Amino acid sequence: MGRLVSAKDMLNKALAGHYGVAQININNLEWTKAVLTTSQELQAPVILGVSMGAAKYMTGYKTVTAMVEAMMESLDITVPVALHLDHGNYDAAVACIKSGFSSIMFDGSSLPFEENYAKTTALVNACDVLGLSLEAEVGSIGGEEDGIIGMGECADPEECAKIAALGVTMLAAGIGNIHGAYPENWAGLQFDVLEKIRAATGNVPLVLHGGTGIPDEQVKKAIGMGVSKINVNTECQWVFQEATRKYIEEGKDKVGKGFDPRKLLAPGYEAIKAKVKEKYEVFGSIGKA
Ligand code: 13P
Repeated sequence: MGRLVSAKDMLNKALAGHYGVAQININNLEWTKAVLTTSQELQAPVILGVSMGAAKYMTGYKTVTAMVEAMMESLDITVPVALHLDHGNYDAAVACIKSGFSSIMFDGSSLPFEENYAKTTALVNACDVLGLSLEAEVGSIGGEEDGIIGMGECADPEECAKIAALGVTMLAAGIGNIHGAYPENWAGLQFDVLEKIRAATGNVPLVLHGGTGIPDEQVKKAIGMGVSKINVNTECQWVFQEATRKYIEEGKDKVGKGFDPRKLLAPGYEAIKAKVKEKYEVFGSIGKA
């Protein structure tokens, strides 16, 4: 590990300070650079989320680690940055541990609880020895991500308590949140469930997945109730898409050297930076590095 850090300290500080740290998922070099530079400019800690699919797209976990480490050095990024596997299966968790990730999410929520418990136990021990942070999940979070489709159920507080007691760094528990766009008739976050989970899990920082499209006031309320990490992915993809579409629809790619990918991808890059700043403002993480 070069400049990368575990997510443990930043999340414990966030829990104590009543703010949230963003996990922003990355897809390529432009995404990574946009998130890292914004975090440095705003002095905010950040967790870079990498799904199994995104890692495959970027040619593998080792490539991702090498890119992030080198970029942090060449851009002199000094704020706390964790490189985190997002929704990994057991094999992916092991691969990331071997590839220099500083944080792992093992998503055993689709497994029978006993198997989730056993595999999380093994990974808690491995991550402890190596100084990595570990996120576990109880109660499948809805929507679709990399082919894993959850039903959006709420987690069972007793199961949360058992997994939290293993010593995981952070716990993702479904409270009615889903990945991607929320349906119009979405009932909102289930704060009564969050309250029960908080009471059952002691001082483990809780993770809110599906940060895209949750009204700011609900996110802030969840942070006040013990959510310390909020994951955002789709919203950055949407603003990147919109900015790129506008550039092309305005014909800018056909003017001069507007076809140069460094020009063509620039509006999307700036749009990600603006979105990340907006999220940090809501989560309260600016100046918390
Ligand atoms: P969204 O794509 O809904 O923002 O969710 C991101 C996420 O939870 C990644 O694990």
